[in-house]
Amino acid sequence: MSIKIGRNDPCWCGSGKKYKVCHEAFDAKIKKYAFMGHQVPSHKMIKNPEQIQKIRESAKINVAVLDYVAEHICVGMSTEEIDRMVYEKTTEMGGIPAPLNYEGYPKSVCTSINEEVCHGIPSPDILLKEGDIVNVDCSTILDGYFSDSSRMFLMGTVDEEKKRLVRVTKECVELGLEQVKPWSFLGDMAYAVNKHATENGYQVVREIGGHGCGLEFHEDPWVGYIGKPKTQMLLVPGMIFTIEPMINMGTWRIQTDAQNGWTVRTADGKPSAQWEIQVLVTEDGHEVISW
Ligand code: MF3
Ligand code: CO
Repeated sequence: MSIKIGRNDPCWCGSGKKYKVCHEAFDAKIKKYAFMGHQVPSHKMIKNPEQIQKIRESAKINVAVLDYVAEHICVGMSTEEIDRMVYEKTTEMGGIPAPLNYEGYPKSVCTSINEEVCHGIPSPDILLKEGDIVNVDCSTILDGYFSDSSRMFLMGTVDEEKKRLVRVTKECVELGLEQVKPWSFLGDMAYAVNKHATENGYQVVREIGGHGCGLEFHEDPWVGYIGKPKTQMLLVPGMIFTIEPMINMGTWRIQTDAQNGWTVRTADGKPSAQWEIQVLVTEDGHEVISW
């Protein structure tokens, strides 16, 4: 918020409009919140309409890939086959799977089964079994713009307890999403998520959260799911981030696989579920960009 900018200069957001008719009043409003002691977003976190359109295009692929997985995933399939479907569908549509080679990650998608919290690595040796709950986490790069979302899949007949975990986790995301609107706070969202999880006897993973997403895979802010209303970062139009709580049937404590350095599991071996959406804060609420 410290860049000196003339009222008739082009706006910092890159819209091409003059500052005075673009983000001047917006900056003044944010300054007031900062003055009151709130955490406020930096200019870097605010996307202009052109960037938002590019991110939407990227997400179109991401959603199509998850739809394709939803159509084909079945008992007996290896997670390697899911990886192949994701790679092929993404590249066929002109995108690049964002996980591939990301910080050394070896595959195009994460497939996390039952007690796996996230970052399950696809393998020809891992076969989907009747009764499994599986998270498929897809992320796409199109022309340098990023999208990211994940869904849960139930394999055949799943026991009631695990089905309830998957359903409640989805409800957590929906309740969190309801809180996403300009001039509310990440803490409003976090509180809604955690409240619903704990009321159902579950625990929310603490160390892993969502993230800004669009110009890079993982941007600020970090998005946690524990917090109080009217705390944490202020939400303003143009911000894009993910809501992706990992909800555990037992303890919130987790462990990372010592062998592969990626796969995160629940410390007590009980099941975990996750749904992820990518959301844009709009002038009057929100738009779900990827799901
Ligand atoms: N898609 C995950 C997320 O939601 C990130 C996975 S990183 C990877 O943030 F390298 F494991 F793919
Ligand atoms: Co994410």
